[in-house]
Amino acid sequence: MCGIVGYIGQKKAYPILIKGLKRLEYRGYDSAGVALISDNNELNVYKAKGKVSDLQAHCQDKDVSGSAGIAHTRWATHGEPSSTNAHPHYSASGRLALIHNGIIENYATLKEKLIERGIEFRSVTDSEVLVQLIDYVQQSNSLSLLEAVQVALRQVIGAYAIAILDRDHPDTIICARQSSPLVVGLGADGDFFLASDASPIAEYTDKVVYLNDGDIAVMQLGKELQVVNLDNVEQHPKVKQIDVTLGQLEKGGYPYFMLKEIFEQPKCLRDCTRGRINVDHDRITLSAVIDYRDRLISARRIIIVACGTSWHAGLIGKMLIESLCRIPVEVEYASEFRYREPVIYPDDVVIAISQSGETADTLAAIEQARSAGAFVFGVCNAIGASIPRQTTTGVYIHVGPEIGVASTKAFTGQVTVLSMLALAIANEKRTIPGDVYKDMVAELTRIPDKMEQALKTNEQIERLAPIFTYAKNSLYLGRGYNYPVALEGALKLKEISYIHAEGYPAAEMKHGPIALIDSEMPVFVIATRDKLYEKVISNIQEVRARGGRVIALVTEGDEQIRKLADHVIELPDTMECFQPLIASIPLQLLAYHIAVCKGKDVDRPRNLAKSVTVE
Ligand code: G6P
Repeated sequence: MCGIVGYIGQKKAYPILIKGLKRLEYRGYDSAGVALISDNNELNVYKAKGKVSDLQAHCQDKDVSGSAGIAHTRWATHGEPSSTNAHPHYSASGRLALIHNGIIENYATLKEKLIERGIEFRSVTDSEVLVQLIDYVQQSNSLSLLEAVQVALRQVIGAYAIAILDRDHPDTIICARQSSPLVVGLGADGDFFLASDASPIAEYTDKVVYLNDGDIAVMQLGKELQVVNLDNVEQHPKVKQIDVTLGQLEKGGYPYFMLKEIFEQPKCLRDCTRGRINVDHDRITLSAVIDYRDRLISARRIIIVACGTSWHAGLIGKMLIESLCRIPVEVEYASEFRYREPVIYPDDVVIAISQSGETADTLAAIEQARSAGAFVFGVCNAIGASIPRQTTTGVYIHVGPEIGVASTKAFTGQVTVLSMLALAIANEKRTIPGDVYKDMVAELTRIPDKMEQALKTNEQIERLAPIFTYAKNSLYLGRGYNYPVALEGALKLKEISYIHAEGYPAAEMKHGPIALIDSEMPVFVIATRDKLYEKVISNIQEVRARGGRVIALVTEGDEQIRKLADHVIELPDTMECFQPLIASIPLQLLAYHIAVCKGKDVDRPRNLAKSVTVE
C-alpha cells in the first residue's frame, strides 16, 4: 500500500527520496511523487503515474535541488491512478505540500466546507482535503504550522500517516500518525529521515522512533526531535535500534525477492527457533508462555484472527492447538470478525497473526478483542510494528524483512511459531506425553534440513512450469494439515500468475469443483503419506476418471501415486503436523516459475499490496 519517505538535513534530498521510494516499491503502488524545497526556496512538486522510474524520467529536466523533501508511492483508494491524484498534494496557496497514507472518512464534509470558502481542489482524493484544511486553518487564524496541524487534525475522522513540507519554513518537516505506521530515523549529523516502514531508513541510521497513534513529530534542523500530541502535550517516545540489515533489503543475486525468500526459508526457520529450542533439541522455551502460563493454559477457547496468507497459517495453528492442547480454536478473517458482533469471553485468548503487523482489519479485530477483555497474543514479523505494540504479549517469527508481495517465508515462520506455541502450551497442560513432546520438538529442529531437500525440487519444477502457463483454471487439493497448504498454494498461483486457482479439501471436491475437471485443468494434489493417504488416492482416482491432469506432491519413495499421476514431486518425510512446512515449498516454486514463464512481475503483482493498511 502507499509508502512515505521524507528527509531533511545537509545532504541532497532527491536521491535519498528516490532510493527510499524504490525500497518501498514492494508494498504495491500505482503512482509516485516527490516535493522538494529547492535551493532557491521554491516548493517543487513532481508526480507521475506508473513506477518510480517513470517519476525519475519525469524529473530528468526539472529542478531537483534542495535538502528537504517528502515523497510518496500511492495505491489508489479514492480516485483512479493518475498524476493529479498522486501525492504530494499542495495547498491552493502553493505554500504547503503533504503526503498521506490511510483514509479520511469525513473528507467529503470537510471538502464541501472548504469549497464553500472558495478553496479550489485539483484531485478527487480524500488526501488533498488535509493539505487544504491545514493551510486554510493556518492562514485564517494566523497559527504556526504545528498549531494548524493540531487544529485541523482534530476535525479529521479516519486513519492517517502524514508528512508536511512548508515553503516558508524550509528547515522543518512535520508529520503525524493515527492508525497508519510512521517511523522517524535520527541521523548522525542531526538530519532526519521519515518513512512508513524502516526499510528506506536502514542504510542511513539504526536509530529510530516509532510514532504512536496521536503523535505529531516536528523535525527541525539544529533541534532535537520534538513529539507532541493533538493537545500539545509533550510525548517521550523511546529511541529504538533497527534490526534490519542492508543485505536483507537487497536481492542478493536472485532475479526476484520472492525466489530469494523461498530459498531463505531453511535459514529463517533456524533463526526462528534459535534460543527457543534448547541445545538438546528436547524443550521449547517461549518467554510469552512462561510469563503468561496460567492465562494461556486456562484459555477456554482460542480465536485466531488474520488475513490472507496469515489466515492460512492460522488454519494450521488451529489443527496444532486443538490436537496438542485440546483447546477449541476458531479461525476468523479479521475483516469479518470485526463487523459481526462476535461473542468474546474474558477468558478467551485471541491470537492475531500478521507478517507486517500493520494490517488495518487485524488491528481493528485486536481492538475489539481487547475491549471485550480477552487476552491478545501477537504472532508478527515486523519488529516494533503496531500489532506487537497493541497485544499483551506474543512471539516474533524473526524471518527478516519480507519484500516479495507473495508471502513465503513469513508463512513458514508463522507455522513454526504456532507449532512451538502449541507444543509449549501442551507441555505445560500435560495434554501430550513427555516422549511425544520430545520427539516432536526434535523433529521440528530437523525441518530446516528437510526444507533444503525440498528446495532441490526447484529444477524439476522449473522444467514443469511451462506446461501450465496455458491454464485458465486450476485446482489444489489436500486433506487434514494439507488442506490449508492447498489453499496457500492456490493463493500463490493466482496472486502472481493471474491463473484462477481454487484450494479445496480433497473429499469436498465431489460437491462442486469436480464439475470443472477436464483435460485442460491441472489438479495439484498434496498426497504425502499420512493417516488420510489412502483416501487421497481415491480422490486422485476421481480426478483421473474425469480426464484431469494430476500433479502430486508425494513422500519420497512413493511408487503407488507415481503410477496414477501425470507428474510427481517427491518430498522428504516428516510428521504429519509439520508437513505444511515442507509441502508449501514446491507450491511456492511452482507459482513462481509459472509466473516467470508468463512474463509477470513476480515481486509486484498487479493490484496487490504487501501491507494492507486500509480496510
Ligand atoms: C496482503 C499481502 C499478503 C498477506 C496479507 C495479510 O494481502 O499481500 O501477503 O498475507 O496482506 O498481511 P499481514 O501483514 O497481516 O500478514
